[in-house]
Parts: sequence; C-alpha cells; structure tokens
Amino acid sequence: MLSRRSFLWASGGVTAMTALPAAAKRALATTPELVASAHPVQLLPSGYPETSIWGYGAQTSGPEIRVKQGARISRRFVNQLPQASSVHWHGLRAENAMDGVSGLTQEAVSPGNSFDYDLAAEDAGTFWYHSHNRSAEQVARGLYGALIVDEPTPPDVDRDVTLMLDDWRVDPKTGQITQDFGASHDLSHGGRLGNFISTNGEATYRLPVRRHERLRLRIVNAANARLFTLGLQGLDGWLMAYDGMPVTSPEPVPETFTLGPGQRVDLFVDVIAEDGVEALLGRIDQSKGYVQAIFPVSGSSSANRRLVPAPLPLNRAPDMTDLAEAATLRLEMSGGAMGSMREAIWNGYSRKAGELMENGQFWAFNGLVGMTETPLARLSLGQVARMTVVNDTVFPHAMHLHGMHFRVLAQDGTPGPLRDTLLTLRGESYEIVFAADNPGRWAFHCHMLSHAASGMMTWIEVT
Ligand code: C2O
Ligand code: CU
Repeated sequence: MLSRRSFLWASGGVTAMTALPAAAKRALATTPELVASAHPVQLLPSGYPETSIWGYGAQTSGPEIRVKQGARISRRFVNQLPQASSVHWHGLRAENAMDGVSGLTQEAVSPGNSFDYDLAAEDAGTFWYHSHNRSAEQVARGLYGALIVDEPTPPDVDRDVTLMLDDWRVDPKTGQITQDFGASHDLSHGGRLGNFISTNGEATYRLPVRRHERLRLRIVNAANARLFTLGLQGLDGWLMAYDGMPVTSPEPVPETFTLGPGQRVDLFVDVIAEDGVEALLGRIDQSKGYVQAIFPVSGSSSANRRLVPAPLPLNRAPDMTDLAEAATLRLEMSGGAMGSMREAIWNGYSRKAGELMENGQFWAFNGLVGMTETPLARLSLGQVARMTVVNDTVFPHAMHLHGMHFRVLAQDGTPGPLRDTLLTLRGESYEIVFAADNPGRWAFHCHMLSHAASGMMTWIEVT
C-alpha cells in the first residue's frame, strides 16, 4: 500500500533531493564528481591477468580534467576507497584551502565521505592531480590524472597529446600491485621503482600520425620515484614549457632530457619520419631502452615542415629580481643508505639513526625528520625568498614546492624558467628564488614519494 510519494522516498534519491533547498540541489546537479575507488583494469598487456588499481573513474589513469584558463575547477571528491584520501592539484597556484594536503590544509576524507574542491585555474598549462594522503601508496596504486588548462586562443598545432608516464610494481603472475609500500630498501634508496612501465596506463601507447604534422606533447612524470630520460626519433621540435609554465623563447628539444617525478614538459614536435616509419618517444639510444610512445607515420599533412612556433603566452610571473632584500633560506638534505646521518630530530626529540630506521624514517631536511610543528620558513606575503638547496645524499631527489613556482639561478645568477619541481642529483646544490605571493601553508617535499614518507617533507608558511 505504498503511495507514489512514499515509494519514491523509499527508493532513495529522487524525493530526497526534492527535500533539499534549491541552492543545494543546484550544487548537486552541477558539481561533477571525482570518485576514487578500487577497480580492476587491464593494465598489463592482453593475455595477462587484470590488475586491481585505485583510480579516479574507471580508467587506469585519469580522467583528464580540462578547463579553460580563468575558469574554476570544481569537483566533488567522493572517497569510495578503503583508506582516507585527499586530492592535490599539482602545480596550480591556487587557494591554499583547496591544495589537498592532508594534515596541513585539510583533514583526509575518510572512506564514504566527500569533499568539494573549487579552485581557480589561473595558469594555462600542463598540470596533474593526485592523492596527497599516504601518497607513496595511493599514487603507486593509480590515484592520479592529468589536469590541462587551455590557453584562451589555442596554439597552432595539429594535435594536443597528453602522455602520462608511470611505472607500476606488479606481480606478473597474479597481475596485482605488490603491497610492499613501506619496504625499507625503497625508503632508504631510490624509492619505489616499478617493473612495468606505462604511458596513459597502456603498455604500448600508439598514435597514428602523418608526416609534417605538428604535435603538442604534454609529458607528465607520474611515477613514484623513476627518472625518465627521454629522446625523440623521427620527431623534432621545441621545448615550450616546464612544469606548466611557458618559456620566453622556445628551445630546441635536446638529444635527451630527464623528467623527475612530478615534473612536466610541453613539446611542440613535427613528424619528420618518412611515410611508413614509426616515430618514437622513449629512451631509445641505450641498451636498457624503452619506448614510451610510438607514432606510426602514414601519409603526410603537407609538403613542408611548418615554421618555428611562436612562444606560448606567458603566465603571470611575480617580480623576483630584487634579491637584496630577499629572505635567505637553506635546505640541506641528508640521510638515506650510504649517507652520513647519525642522528636527527623526529617528533621533537633527537634520535639515533638506528631508532629512526626502525620507524621507517631515513631522511632529514636540516637535521629534522618529516613534518614539524613549525614551518621551515615563515615568509610575509610578497616577500622574495632565496634558498640554497643542497643534496648531501647519494640519491636524486625531486623537490616540489606547493602554491608558488620558483626559478633556479644559474652560476652567474641568471634566473631560469619558472618551475614547481627541482630535480637534484647526488651531491648537487642549487639556488632557487621565489616570491611568497600566495598566502597559506605550503608543503615542500621530495616527490619521490617513499622519501617524502620517510622524512623528506616540510612546509613553508606565507602570511
Ligand atoms: Cu605532486 Cu605535494 O605533490
Ligand atoms: Cu628524495
């Protein structure tokens, strides 16, 4: 004896929604969801078993989020994972409250709950989003996607191609991701390297092209720890942007270039391979080479190559030329296997290296392990900071600053391009400058996510 009305109520959804105020209904109707869940995908080549990954949406990596510059990115993050999670929008200079860093800018969203992200896409370029809670595990399980902000006027290219590079650690027999996320050897050495390399979640990424077509390749290193050293074959062109920020004058793509975890480049490349040949992106010239993308060439789009491209329109660049008044900061990395760290401060107390190791902590910044009560630096809004970054370890580290891009100073003091992630190799040191023009609490950490989990994580406060 159910009336129509109570039947709808009992079946959930429809009548429940009509009970909400009009504004809430509109929000429900218009905020797209970003649902994180565990689900099986065919990650390994066909013939191998499926892999249960954690991802946003049903694909392996993605979905790609794409907006026009100046628009807002609004997503209701719905957590259907068995763990708490949060979403970070890597490289976007957006509001601190939306930065998605659990424990610093928000509480992690517990299973079954949701969080509404709403942030401005100020900069046009190639960015990505990923989990920022237990990220050494969650990103390794697949919680990431591309985030593309389009220029108001599309640049003159024939195709716009996003290539997300990753490596997964899978057991080829079962197809499953190995659950060794906190393995001491990975934490203390080069991080969690995978045994299966993918592009956009595929073992063999292929895109048919025509000779003389111009491609925009947006290459993202989404791996936990792997450095991708890449080169082109049958493609030739220009490096247009680093870490989402266009360069003032396009640079010819070097023979090889390296992307540390978290880093991106935008290339404009022309297909110069002959009809019937495969053009390649990959680590081509070495014995342990691998191909990241294959571009089979058939036919041609025009008789000749195009002219040199105009630079992409620049994003806002804060003035950081006056270094006389700049705050002077120093970040010294120490620890890891074969390092000289004997003791360090962790949770407020000095501990011997042995005790730290037992707790899975292997690295320190300025003698401090992991997140601290007080930030590495407190900067006042608008202040320029100059930081010496020293890698006093025998491993590479990719230092990522949230909320603001920095420039690396060359030996002679010339500022380089804007970047959000600095790759440092063993023993190297760099000078970086940035303008503290974005208020809030900003994470600053190694993007080798196992390193971040074992000590290489700090923050900077801008007030
Ligand atoms: Cu791409 Cu703190 O992260
Ligand atoms: Cu590191």
